[in-house]
Amino acid sequence: MDSLHDLQGKWDRASRWYDFAVVPLELLIFARLRSRLLRLAAGRVLEVAAGTGANLRYYPAGADVVTVDLSPVMLDKARSRGAAKVLVMDAGHLAFRDGTFDTVVSTLATCTFPDPVNALREMRRVCRPGGKILLLEHGRSTRPGVAAWQEKRAAKHAAYLGCWWNREPLDHVRRAGLAPRSATRTFLGMVHVIEVEA
Ligand SMILES: C[S@@+](CC[C@H](N)C(=O)[O-])C[C@H]1O[C@@H](n2cnc3c(N)ncnc32)[C@H](O)[C@@H]1O
Repeated sequence: MDSLHDLQGKWDRASRWYDFAVVPLELLIFARLRSRLLRLAAGRVLEVAAGTGANLRYYPAGADVVTVDLSPVMLDKARSRGAAKVLVMDAGHLAFRDGTFDTVVSTLATCTFPDPVNALREMRRVCRPGGKILLLEHGRSTRPGVAAWQEKRAAKHAAYLGCWWNREPLDHVRRAGLAPRSATRTFLGMVHVIEVEA
């Protein structure tokens, strides 16, 4: 598992090519899912591990979005895309009071957190009771052949960006004590859209 320092370095470097590399997947699936999920965001919104700000264009008018990420260089890109409130922060230690936000968002990020269950607990802590936690995540396929291939290559894949593609996001959500209001998976069972009431 990467240290936070190593993860930050990897993502600082990846900021140069990340947006370009994900274009095919954005067109194929993510853009549509982001748009559908993020229209549910409202009020004070915290986006955890916001990266280069791919979600910014999908928030409804009036959403007051705070973006945090471990990588200051990824966040520079988010700033250039219009992110107004930007903070370097570890998802495992969110520096906000309990119940600060109406909505907490994480997309394509729990795969990289050293302790995803703790990060999800932090998301719930900073979300007000009755608020929403909106997740778009990826993990192990429901197709046995694809899952076996992911498993075999997981360590090699994680060496690049710390992304563990053989994780089970829904298990992490449940282990964090969150009860999904809705959870769907698509794209060979690898992509999850999960909505939780905090
Ligand atoms: C695959 S990118 C996803 C970015 C963005 N959420 C999206 O949907 O395009 C993963 C992001 O997680 C950030 N990250 C990794 N570990 C983190 C941590 N412990 N705390 C906060 N951000 C982290 C990385 O810096 C990177 O920007």
